[in-house]
Amino acid sequence: MKRMLALLLLVTAVLNAVSAQELHSPNNNLLLQFSLRDDGTPTYDLSYKGKPVVKPSKMGFALKDNKQLLDSFSVSDAKTSSFDETWTPVWGEVKTIRNHYNELAVTLTQKRTGYIMVIRFRLFDDGLGFRYEFPTQKNLTYFVVKDERTEFAMPGDLIAWWIPGDYDTQEYDYTKSRLSEIRGLMAKAITGNISQTSFSTTGVQTSLMLKSDDGLYINLHEAALINYPAMHLNLDDKNMVFQSWLTPDARGDKAYMQAPCTTPWRTVMVSDDARDIIASKITYNLNEPCKLKDVSWIKPIKYIGVWWEMITGRSTWAYTDEYPAVQLGITDYTKAKPNGRHGANTAHVKEYIDFAAKHGFDAVLVEGWNIGWEDWFGNSKDYVFDFVTPYPDFNVKEIQEYAKSKGIKMIMHHETSSSVRNYERHMDTAYQFMKKFGYDAVKSGYVGPILPRGENHYSQWIVNHYLYALQKAAEYHIMVNAHEAVRPTGLARTYPNLIGNESARGTEYQAFGGSKPNHVTVLPFTRLLGGPMDYTPGIFEMDISKINPENKSHANCTLVNQLALYVTMYSPLQMAADLPENYNRFLDAFQFIKDVAVDWDESKYIEAEPGEYITVARKAKGTGKWFLGSVGGDQPRTSRIAFDFLDAGKTYVATIYADAPNADYKTNPQAYTIRKVLVTNKSKLSQFVAAGGGYAISFVEADKQQTKGLKKL
Ligand code: NOJ
Ligand code: CA
Repeated sequence: MKRMLALLLLVTAVLNAVSAQELHSPNNNLLLQFSLRDDGTPTYDLSYKGKPVVKPSKMGFALKDNKQLLDSFSVSDAKTSSFDETWTPVWGEVKTIRNHYNELAVTLTQKRTGYIMVIRFRLFDDGLGFRYEFPTQKNLTYFVVKDERTEFAMPGDLIAWWIPGDYDTQEYDYTKSRLSEIRGLMAKAITGNISQTSFSTTGVQTSLMLKSDDGLYINLHEAALINYPAMHLNLDDKNMVFQSWLTPDARGDKAYMQAPCTTPWRTVMVSDDARDIIASKITYNLNEPCKLKDVSWIKPIKYIGVWWEMITGRSTWAYTDEYPAVQLGITDYTKAKPNGRHGANTAHVKEYIDFAAKHGFDAVLVEGWNIGWEDWFGNSKDYVFDFVTPYPDFNVKEIQEYAKSKGIKMIMHHETSSSVRNYERHMDTAYQFMKKFGYDAVKSGYVGPILPRGENHYSQWIVNHYLYALQKAAEYHIMVNAHEAVRPTGLARTYPNLIGNESARGTEYQAFGGSKPNHVTVLPFTRLLGGPMDYTPGIFEMDISKINPENKSHANCTLVNQLALYVTMYSPLQMAADLPENYNRFLDAFQFIKDVAVDWDESKYIEAEPGEYITVARKAKGTGKWFLGSVGGDQPRTSRIAFDFLDAGKTYVATIYADAPNADYKTNPQAYTIRKVLVTNKSKLSQFVAAGGGYAISFVEADKQQTKGLKKL
């Protein structure tokens, strides 16, 4: 009996060894292992320089109709390969991106059912991507995912920068805590969020940034979210194991699949240097190459907008305080009584166009230009906006001609009111209207509960809508900046007309009560890993009551911190969000916003620690100018850096915009100094950063600027 048992154990061990696969990253720092448990459950684990990153974790799915893809698998094939390409993004932080990985594709066959599932792993030097694939097969074509059961077993009680899992909003401040503390802090993390609809006591959103006690920076996210719901992570906080938690649809189902098909990639970035995480291009590399043949119409944009005045409550999106009912057919607003505070009126828009032209901006966004806002507020209705009918005081043609004469582009605004079918019904006419009036970029928005009722902002059906809107826009050569849409997952590689998204807590919250001062030191480690954010920086007046006496909010940042964001928060779409009147008060500091580039050849991450600080230098595309931004957290600090990124042998005039020694985000946010010095790539800087502060530097080659009287640093 004993002998037989020993033999059985031996056979099992040999079988397991046969089905165990190993994969190394190109530089050998990462090791991925795949194996099947005795019952045929697929598992994987990941280590970095010998340290565990993901401990053995299960993979698979519960399907509807009592089917499952969880166990009783055997390995029917395993293939390894290598890939190395360098591609050129249409816009970006760098001129070219290297996509270099080793791959393992394991084909699994479920013994009882014959179902076939491929798990494809790609191991890069800075992390892992893996996805599930369902090839065409006899027994499994149409199926419904009840739950994805991908696990991420963490190597301990890590520190996490997290926001609550939620099917309808991502606009949270981050909480920093141990994994074991998430449960206790969840209620507080949710309090005060205006759109929160659903949560689990230990559920969080991706991209999730983590740090281990032995100094590993780990990030969990996803790439190429297409035809599938967005993934949250639910924590088993006894064992520190995350499990994928997909956003359900109106019926509680997760994903409707039709083979051949694939899931999005699940990503695990890892390094012992935090800078590698924010420099990582894994998310883009796991997306398909650009699908647009002609990209000549896609251009980075620096813009201002008739916007902050509405967000702060000084002016209104709505034209009247009466409530004409669009859906009852009352569209003749010329008969309505104007409220006298409508922001999007022709004369006022022209002032913004003048300001944009004077200061070298590319474009002006105008919100509240089209009828329907009166009806929409506070309501959830199928049909509110038609996207083509302006209010009587907004003269589309006149504005178009005026903007054109000043060399300014107008940016369209489509607040969809989350009535997604209504938007799809009007999309062609809306995009045609844009083209007719010279608009080639649209800011869209999805505020409020999704219609059809019961759908969620991140479920499969609406994830498909966001892509549909993007693809349709591309047909019309329109660039898209979608707010409240699902967090990006690198799709801008495939559709580079996706020049921006919000999908996180943006600057607007500074006028809705304020955000944490270190928020902008976390976003590059989380939200920005999927693609650029329309964060809308550039707030110069932190006391919002100076704009609207009834709004008592305070923006928790210094003025110079706002300058630095144009470099630290990479985006090909950058707004100067404050009112022209506030820029006119600080024109010397405003100069940095005017000068800073929006497209780059090189990016150097100089200092980085989530929640604490980020310092980035970037070389402008084509011009050879360098710009540097540094943001800090809620404590003052001194940043000590070398300028060794600058081109060797050149002398530059560095204009340094810094917090004054007595600056503080709460008590003295507008205290700054500006100094000009001569620097080379041998120069070093020791720079004070106020609480909630930062510094920003522009570097221009000395022979291109006045250097008389300037001292060396
Ligand atoms: C929320 C967006 O984030 C904001 O930018 C926009 O102004 C409002 N929705 C109105 O659409
Ligand atoms: Ca928003």
